[in-house]
Amino acid sequence: MADTVGVGIIGAGSIANMTHIPGYKGLSEKVRLIAVADVLGERADEVAAEHKIPMAFDDYNRLLELEEIDIVSVCTPPVAHMAATIAALEAGKHVLCEKPMAMNAAEAQLMIDAAEESGCKLAIGFQSRFSDSAVALKRLIDGGELGDVYYGRAVYNRRRGIPSWGMFYSREQNGGGPLIDVGVHVLDLALWLMGSPKPVSVLGSAYRKFGNRDDVFNRFGPWNHTDYDVEDFTTAMIRLEGGATLNLECSWALNIEEDLQSVVLCGDEGGAQLHPLKVFKDDGKMLIDWDPQGLADTNYIEMHARSLANFVDAVINDGDPLVRPEHGLHVAQIVDAIYRSSETGQLAEI
Ligand SMILES: NC(=O)c1ccc[n+]([C@@H]2O[C@H](COP(=O)([O-])OP(=O)(O)OC[C@H]3O[C@@H](n4cnc5c(N)ncnc54)[C@H](O)[C@@H]3O)[C@@H](O)[C@H]2O)c1
Repeated sequence: MADTVGVGIIGAGSIANMTHIPGYKGLSEKVRLIAVADVLGERADEVAAEHKIPMAFDDYNRLLELEEIDIVSVCTPPVAHMAATIAALEAGKHVLCEKPMAMNAAEAQLMIDAAEESGCKLAIGFQSRFSDSAVALKRLIDGGELGDVYYGRAVYNRRRGIPSWGMFYSREQNGGGPLIDVGVHVLDLALWLMGSPKPVSVLGSAYRKFGNRDDVFNRFGPWNHTDYDVEDFTTAMIRLEGGATLNLECSWALNIEEDLQSVVLCGDEGGAQLHPLKVFKDDGKMLIDWDPQGLADTNYIEMHARSLANFVDAVINDGDPLVRPEHGLHVAQIVDAIYRSSETGQLAEI
């Protein structure tokens, strides 16, 4: 592979404009932005003009015909992730697909099969792994500081934060609600920190208590409460290969004091939590808390930029991206199993 790559963007909405396009522009010594495609052709034209991207299409298949494109970012709603990703892989492009990987695990598996068949790389946009504190905690865990990590708790709770834009509360477009929208970020982060074990079984519950009401405060303003057909809160206990357990909570609306994003990990030599990073140890005579200093509070845009840079480097150097597609599949399997378990009231095996 040459030391520069051509990039195309499929889906020219919020995430493409906020993070992917600026992120690739920041890698201009390695990346040439070649084309953008969106079913809304005018949107593709406007975005191309604004960012000086040479070509715009209303059909991504035309973008995929361009030989000078090596990498494609799939930034459509989840309902289109699988088709766009597989088409791109079959066209010989490496793909960075936004989270969630797909609508469900069956789709995610087909994407992995297509990547293997094509010999091209596939990664998923789980940028939370790239914060300074997540990287530091991974280093401590891999160095044995926490010992055997047998319990994790992953939380992404909003007190009132139902997305009022886009189609995030449509099951048909997204495959689910806060679980598949924001829960997947903390799920992926916790699983990665725990060594990416396979999920084994799930006991989960999903609730819709606010989505269809018109008398509820929402910090993102009014939404279409009649079209809302996903959950607004999920909780689950997830058993992992090797015996560890991960508990998850995520909401767009929940009667709690304040929003909370956190990952807690407990091992037999120490524990830790993120946001901010703290480590809890014991020397036999006393409890010792570590309060690491000097870590930047990596912002959202920077985490995305690092995720894009990691993928570009993996393509140029023929290495593995940090976020492997199998990890996206594990998250999708857990999401499916939580919804299944919630419906049946039973443990869902994976
Ligand atoms: N990693 C993160 O933190 C993060 C944050 C926000 C959104 N996302 C993800 O990014 C994806 C897009 O979200 P968004 O907020 O940008 O949505 P959006 O609605 O703002 O943009 C999506 C764009 O895709 C276009 N589109 C739809 N179907 C298409 C198709 N078949 N071909 C080409 N274009 C198509 C739409 O017209 C729209 O312009 C979702 O999967 C979402 O979950 C990730």
